[in-house]
Amino acid sequence: MHGSFAEHRNGDYRAIALQSSVPVGSELYQYSDDPRDMSNSTSYKEAIDQYLYVVKEIARVTMPGRLSVVHCTDLKRGQLYQHDFPGDVIRVHEEAGMRYFCRVVIWKDPWEFARRTRMKTLMHKTLVEDAARSRIAPADHLVIFLKPGANKAPVTHKNGFTSYAGQRPIPADLMRLCENYKGDQRKNVMSHWIYRQYASPVWMDIRRGRLLPHRDCKEDPEERHVCPLQMDVIDRALAMWSNHGDTVLTPFMGVGSEVYGAVINGRRAIGMELKETYYRQAARNIAAAVQAVESGEMPIIATSSEEENSSDDADESGEWAMETTASE
Ligand SMILES: C[S@@+](CC[C@H](N)C(=O)[O-])C[C@H]1O[C@@H](n2cnc3c(N)ncnc32)[C@H](O)[C@@H]1O
Repeated sequence: MHGSFAEHRNGDYRAIALQSSVPVGSELYQYSDDPRDMSNSTSYKEAIDQYLYVVKEIARVTMPGRLSVVHCTDLKRGQLYQHDFPGDVIRVHEEAGMRYFCRVVIWKDPWEFARRTRMKTLMHKTLVEDAARSRIAPADHLVIFLKPGANKAPVTHKNGFTSYAGQRPIPADLMRLCENYKGDQRKNVMSHWIYRQYASPVWMDIRRGRLLPHRDCKEDPEERHVCPLQMDVIDRALAMWSNHGDTVLTPFMGVGSEVYGAVINGRRAIGMELKETYYRQAARNIAAAVQAVESGEMPIIATSSEEENSSDDADESGEWAMETTASE
């Protein structure tokens, strides 16, 4: 849907099982000058207050006993400090009636990150000059919340996990033994292996360049790229916590990655996007997913190399690049 999440909040979203979104922060990500744009808050506090409003609506429409998944990271606070945004995401969800369930940390290469964002506190030079200003690269977090209540539609994996989203290959001997295995799941060593990766507290092998097309939707060359979520993260969240046929809500759809992933994985999805150019790109991406499902030919999303992938530039350079070592 084109428009603000707030305008579409009263639709019939009863079937919602899983919400995967990137909540926007304060003073950091300016996608548009629309006053409805969540990124146009005047302060961090205002952004958190706005976000509470969104989360209350998500809590209202999520099925009892089901989950909401939030992708977020620490946010810049002045030139030197950071906001514990994942911590505030938890506080806001608890206030809205959701319960904190678990979290995953997604690894980032500090060298790549420093190079792309020119983040001075991550540079070796800073370590040499004054390590009291040497930072650790901010990881991405996936924070998962449970809506209290009985789950009337358990999320089942009767044949275990059958595919893996990530860089690491499934060991060949496990594949040979258990590909398409439908017997006793206690003996499904391939599914056990995949589950062990997904249940790890740190996801080390997310393909950072496995992203939907997003570069063609800039209105002006000066504008930063929208930062799509890596498809591996979406595929894992859907595989872990939703059933085939469930409906996924994404309140800040961007170029449609969560909806695309839902369609390809046999789920339904509802997404809202404020910015028209992103919305149009999302519509193109989702049409490609529908066509793929109808034709039975699953698309391969090209994985660009770290070098080519500038999604971090879009996300973080505005946030971090201007950093100076000790002005605050
Ligand atoms: C980080 S992007 C989401 C990217 C998305 N996960 C993807 O993979 O394409 C956040 C999006 O929220 C949108 N947005 C901001 N405020 C909004 C609002 N009030 N209603 C709907 N969308 C909004 C922005 O235009 C931006 O596209």
